[in-house]
Amino acid sequence: MARPISLASDGVYIAPSILSADPLDMSGAIGSLEGLHDWLHVDIMDGHFVPNLSYGPALVRSLRERYHDEVLDVHLMVEPPESFIDIFLDHDPDVLTVHCEATPHLHRVLGRIRERGVHPGVSLNPGTPVSAIEPVLSMVDLVLVMSVNPGFGGQAFIPETLSKVVALCRMRAVGSHPFLIQMDGGIGSSNLDSVVRSGVDVVVMGNSVFSTPCPGETVKTMKTIALEAFSYGKETF
Ligand code: DX5
Ligand code: ZN
Repeated sequence: MARPISLASDGVYIAPSILSADPLDMSGAIGSLEGLHDWLHVDIMDGHFVPNLSYGPALVRSLRERYHDEVLDVHLMVEPPESFIDIFLDHDPDVLTVHCEATPHLHRVLGRIRERGVHPGVSLNPGTPVSAIEPVLSMVDLVLVMSVNPGFGGQAFIPETLSKVVALCRMRAVGSHPFLIQMDGGIGSSNLDSVVRSGVDVVVMGNSVFSTPCPGETVKTMKTIALEAFSYGKETF
């Protein structure tokens, strides 16, 4: 059964993306976070939905076997997700996120993830409007707004995606939905403030954490920036 993922009312979660970790020293990279992170973000790429390949279910299995208490946030960039969700669900992730662009059966896929006791997430590419997921907002625990075109770490942030977060906050309030809003791609100390102030609850960070000498210290600094931005209040973009 998935771990609870609800957020304290005054919080922001930091989810380092292990796509930017050394694949030959994944446990060293996770250890370097010194337990100061909130979730571990795991990117799965199929070379079809996105123009890159990454990991498979074996990594999720090993992570779960070794790190019982980690919140494993699995971001599936695969097409069609309905052919792959069960092989990931078998390894006890906490969140399993699929892309709305990758399937004509989004409702069925999200229902299946929920049925298997895992928190369902839905993701939007930068070119996809929030209206594309409106019919499934009551079914998900997480909405992932991509702030780069998915497929690679270390890309430049697309600022136009912030207005989608603002729109989702409104839709969440109007519909009384409890989902968290996550943003992924190109986020670091220079734009974290505007990301949090747009209304993001869970911030994914790859390069800006793992390319630094002390990833744990970096997460700590990012949390301070995020909490300051949070207490400063929300903006409209
Ligand atoms: C991109 C992935 C991201 C990636 C983010 O397709 O979904 O999770 O690891 O990396 P940065 O933070 O380096 O852009
Ligand atoms: Zn991701």
